[in-house]
Amino acid sequence: MPDVRRALVAVALPALLVGACASDGDDTGDPTPEPEQTADAAACEQPDDCPLRVVAGGADVLIGTAVQSDLLESEPAYAEMVAAEFNSVTPENALKWDAVHPEPDTWTFEDADAIVDFAAEHDVAVKGHNLVWAQELVDSTPDWVEEIDAPDELRSALEEHITTVMEHFDTVDRWDVVNEPLQTTGTELYDNHFHRVLGPGYVAEAFEMARSADPDAALYLNENIVEYSPGKRDAFVELVTDLVDDGVPIDGVGLQLHLVNGAPEAGVVSDLVETFTDLDLEVAITELDVPLRESDDLSSQAAVFDQVVEECVGAGCRDVTLWGFTDKHTWIDSFLGPGLEPLILDDDYAPKPAYDALWQVFAAQS
Ligand code: G3I
Repeated sequence: MPDVRRALVAVALPALLVGACASDGDDTGDPTPEPEQTADAAACEQPDDCPLRVVAGGADVLIGTAVQSDLLESEPAYAEMVAAEFNSVTPENALKWDAVHPEPDTWTFEDADAIVDFAAEHDVAVKGHNLVWAQELVDSTPDWVEEIDAPDELRSALEEHITTVMEHFDTVDRWDVVNEPLQTTGTELYDNHFHRVLGPGYVAEAFEMARSADPDAALYLNENIVEYSPGKRDAFVELVTDLVDDGVPIDGVGLQLHLVNGAPEAGVVSDLVETFTDLDLEVAITELDVPLRESDDLSSQAAVFDQVVEECVGAGCRDVTLWGFTDKHTWIDSFLGPGLEPLILDDDYAPKPAYDALWQVFAAQS
């Protein structure tokens, strides 16, 4: 099983092997949609009484999951569980640049449209993921974009992409504008194609373009591993602070929390939330999963879910998204290996102790 270093690289593995409260002052309203506030939440005394989306709503929290459009179509149990348990979804891949804009004049929105339509049908909010993600091996930037070396041409392509996608998906209320802007296990801006051609200001430019494209959407910067790496954590705080100080239209930050090496040090998540809340930003958990290590069991896994979600929600997070919800369908299987059971329902969609732990965190915050 991964030790600390291997675990950190492992979280980065997809990026090596294959593949975000109040705004900056131009107040665009509360960036986190109001979860349903139903009287039902008062009746939620134990997990069998009501689903996650109701008990989380009682705590004023969105509970979300990454979803795959083909599974919504092909697997009834998958679709039923998403609609029943979650009030937010993030297209796992369907809204990425390579999925929606694979060639300069080709726009392929069907898969993401299917997810957005499903969400609308079931009163579920949609988080857009992501507008810009460029790294060496795994990312979502098509080759045709990485072949543009003229700054003005690349800037035009970026603006056309962001504008066209956000205007088409105008019911998407939150966007990961830039995903993983920092080096995977470093402390500098990732030297990706946009950084090389447009300079470090590409991050701010992407947010400006996104704000112009949809002034009502909440704009997030999404990052991984900051929960484990103090250096990357400090670098992320510095990057976000600079964006806010420069008046860049950022509304929130996303902490991915792919917890391949178990629980972060106690207090790291709540301290991060407080730091960003002091900058008038929303903080969301955006891609939570907890693969089992040899030393783990379902009870210790539940304790990890409990720790990070309790710290986040207790410090003011109102948006918690899992990177999938059933062990039957998880990116972990392809990227870190099968059988690591990282999510809250098992292969048969039965709740695991982690489900109950999440449920109890929301119930306690209601
Ligand atoms: O759809 C094609 C299929 O037609 C083809 O046969 C198959 C084999 O080549 O590939 C399929 O596309 C894969 C896609 O997932 C859908 O399954 C891509 O190769 C594969 O790279 C892609 O992996 C995704 C990865 O991001 C890269 O985009 C994972 O599912 C997804 O869970 C992962 O999610 C990322 C977040 O976006 C950002 N944070 C890290 C997280 C984990 O890496």
